[in-house]
Amino acid sequence: MKNYLQADEWKIVEKDFDPHLNKISESIFSLGNGRMGQRANFEEAYSGETMQGSYVAGVYYPDKTRVGWWKNGYPEYFAKVLNAANWIGIDIQVDGEVLDLAECKVTDFLRVLNMKDGYLERSFTAEFENGKQIRVNAKRFCSIVDQEAGAIRYAITPLNFTDIFTITPYIDGDIRNQDANYDEKFWSEVSREANEGSAYLTLRTFKTQFEVCTGMMFALTQNGKLLNPRPTIVSKDKYVANQVEVEAEQGQEVVIYKYAANLSSENHPKERLLDNCKQVLKTCVLKGFDKMLQEQSSAWALKWQESDIVIEGDVAAQQGIRFNIFQLNQTYTGEDSRLNIGPKGFTGEKYGGSTYWDTEAYCVPFYLATADAQVTKNLLIYRYNQLGKAIENAEKLGFKNGAALFPMVTMNGEECHNEWEITFEEIHRNGAIAYAIYNYTRYTGDANYLVEYGLEVLVGIARFWSQRVNWSADKQQYVMLGVTGPNEYENNVNNNWYTNTIATWCLEYTLQALDYVKAANVDRCGELLQKLNFNVQEETSFWKHIIENMFYPEDVEKGIFLQQDGFLDKEEILVSDLPAAERPLNQKWSWDRILRSPFIKQADVLQGMYFFEDRYDEASLKRNFDYYEPRTVHESSLSPCVHSILAARLGDEERAYEFYLRTARLDLDDYNNDTEDGLHITSMAGTWMSVVEGFAGMRVKADELVFNPFLPQKWTSYSFNIHFRGISLNVKVDKMGIHLINRCCEEVTVSIYGSPYTIKANERMVAGYKLIA
Ligand code: BGC
Repeated sequence: MKNYLQADEWKIVEKDFDPHLNKISESIFSLGNGRMGQRANFEEAYSGETMQGSYVAGVYYPDKTRVGWWKNGYPEYFAKVLNAANWIGIDIQVDGEVLDLAECKVTDFLRVLNMKDGYLERSFTAEFENGKQIRVNAKRFCSIVDQEAGAIRYAITPLNFTDIFTITPYIDGDIRNQDANYDEKFWSEVSREANEGSAYLTLRTFKTQFEVCTGMMFALTQNGKLLNPRPTIVSKDKYVANQVEVEAEQGQEVVIYKYAANLSSENHPKERLLDNCKQVLKTCVLKGFDKMLQEQSSAWALKWQESDIVIEGDVAAQQGIRFNIFQLNQTYTGEDSRLNIGPKGFTGEKYGGSTYWDTEAYCVPFYLATADAQVTKNLLIYRYNQLGKAIENAEKLGFKNGAALFPMVTMNGEECHNEWEITFEEIHRNGAIAYAIYNYTRYTGDANYLVEYGLEVLVGIARFWSQRVNWSADKQQYVMLGVTGPNEYENNVNNNWYTNTIATWCLEYTLQALDYVKAANVDRCGELLQKLNFNVQEETSFWKHIIENMFYPEDVEKGIFLQQDGFLDKEEILVSDLPAAERPLNQKWSWDRILRSPFIKQADVLQGMYFFEDRYDEASLKRNFDYYEPRTVHESSLSPCVHSILAARLGDEERAYEFYLRTARLDLDDYNNDTEDGLHITSMAGTWMSVVEGFAGMRVKADELVFNPFLPQKWTSYSFNIHFRGISLNVKVDKMGIHLINRCCEEVTVSIYGSPYTIKANERMVAGYKLIA
């Protein structure tokens, strides 16, 4: 755990430069706009420890896998979002010395991520070996208005000398992924062009043949006046630059404005990439840095208006939640159904930038409540468009008749994870994809989604489950063998309660969806049945038989569901018995020891009780919570939020808050010692859920919003806005109770602690806390 950042409600602030923390800060201070992302690397040269990271959404490489022993059905490759050309680079040289913070004496260093306005600022004084001192102030952003562009304002002031500076803004495409399996490079050069004041580099990925044109234009000013120095043009393999010499006088500020753009062949015809890149840059230069930043700030104000959570009385908590919301909004904007949310977003290489079940299980609630319904719909359509690949994937494993197994890890619909226990066995991900459809239709009321897209996906998933179970003559019930549940610290188990539960739920939900589509649009239903070659009578009666006869492991005496067959044979030890030095288990113990132990990586049975909470009474939830929580090590960042929400439901406010704290500042405080790899973007949505679903107890039930709020003791209040079926509500919870403001022009009825309240358009109401007997 680190504690080196300053508390501030709207900013992340790092004072003083510590090279040992640099890679962590490079992750934390990352910028993105849904189309591209950039770690907080320095513009100037840096010879110290760094992880360069610049990513262009949707541009990936199918890196050949590395597995010890090949198994039929393994994916051929592990896809990774590529580290792309460096567009931020500006080399600075004076009197033969290169500005490099690993070599200079650095004082007054300040790095600030301004979350309100969406930019990164860095300032410092650097002293070269020869005693010359300069002051630098660098500001940059990835524009959420001109989404393919970024802009930098880099200001240098010589403090104790006058001399000629050599300034080299450049684009460098000689980039490699640190996680490349065979240390190969993934880019080849297509073309380069360097002119006075601008330069362009177009690169193509091997195999996938994506092309990205990265361009830059720049301008220089001295004391606010435009300079027109004659640049030397540099153009060499995968590198283009302009080199200019500027005489800077002591105390006078020289500013380099660098505008850059990344255009990908995913969005432009290849033959137009260069011209379109020039066009984007021209627009940016015409606007100028200040106007672009102004627009950035206004666009962020709109995002904050809809998605902010305001916490009063606890600055660290306020900073933590805003950081999570900021990073989620930087990662996914929901305009393009080909894009998704990688567990690390655009902040590192881990998890390859691919799509996991995290999106459906954790991120969907955040985008549903804070953005237009289309944003989540696009996440669902992403999977719909990959249905064909999911069917192929299932076929590779021996399934038939349109059964669909969505991948655990994917970029284009193909499975690209190659640990057998995850690829073949962690099949519960199929359930999360169905659950997201349910969540979306329940939240938005857009049941027509089922008619348009949803039913097809559900039928594929239902067919998979119906073929994945088998009849046990011994039990006279259906069982599901050889799976890995959400708890990845168990592999190849039989009857994982969560997987069995979500499997039958998928069958039930598919039957309901079928009825709905039949009733809503009989013609479309007929079409779909034909397209899917769906034998309604035979298939649905088989599904019903499975629903009625599924085996769920449980221990009646203890009154708990069993995570899997035989779970009670495990050694009776708890997380509290573990010496701190042995944590995290995945770094300290052998895999064999982990598998045999009773320790649970992340919510498993409890994940199911969270998804299907209406099925279980509080006593049952409490028994399961009390049994599983002491055995859970939460070594996935996705875990504590589920425990937080369930603790809140059980009225255990203290623990709900405790679990919330584990992820609220996970990256800011480098809680797990892994922030340098990138941020935990998908678990950030879980932190949001802990506040809205946990502390505020928000749910959608019977087409209405329901709240069961409490106020964490340390806080004075918290508030947030919620979109729900065309209505927008401001919810504030403070010491008096819950205040709701209806922000729109339609009356809305909500339930608070079980009682209905109607709030007229543009009116507010307050409800006091429930009386606890
Ligand atoms: C978790 C998975 C998750 C993945 C990506 C793993 O550590 O166990 O549930 O999908 O990380 O976030």
